Amino acid sequence: KTPNHTFKLVLLGDGRVGKTSLVVRYVNNVFSEKQEATVQASYLTKRLVIGGVPVTLSIWDTAGQERFHALGPIYYRDADAALLVYDITDSDTFLRVRKWVKELQQMASRDIVMAIAGNKSDLVRSKKYDIQEAESYATSIGARLFVTSAKSGTGIDEVFLEIATRLLQK
Ligand code: GTP
Repeated sequence: KTPNHTFKLVLLGDGRVGKTSLVVRYVNNVFSEKQEATVQASYLTKRLVIGGVPVTLSIWDTAGQERFHALGPIYYRDADAALLVYDITDSDTFLRVRKWVKELQQMASRDIVMAIAGNKSDLVRSKKYDIQEAESYATSIGARLFVTSAKSGTGIDEVFLEIATRLLQK
């Protein structure tokens, strides 16, 4: 933790689950149906104020395509937090979350803060998705699960605020 409360956050998850879309919605409040795949990684910052304390999140959005997997450590090695993203309509993408978590537990900072986002909730009719398994998994790794939609904006501020709040309390 730096004196000016700047924290490094890395987004990890399968290709096309909506990592870039989540960050761009959060930072610039826009959404594109034609968001292009990230190559390697991209970087954005977000400033917020929590209980009067200014916090800066340095957000690294990584490429989800398998061919970039080996670059992961470059981005999570000194990360304070990780947001694991999957597509709530595609259970296969949750397996990738589990894979990243295992890798983080072995390779990342011991006290890294983790949260999980089940994204694209707008594609599922109200409450028709089953998040029980994901929720108990999240609890088992000390993370909270958020249902999000980069398209509608649902859950976005909440997930980043939770991460930032936990980082401040560390
Ligand atoms: P990589 O860069 O390949 O890792 O992909 P990514 O995880 O960053 O996904 P990206 O943000 O590029 O989004 C992939 C596709 O899903 C795009 O066509 C987005 O418009 C779409 N998308 C992202 N989030 C949502 C969402 O919440 N709802 C819907 N309906 N579509 C979304």
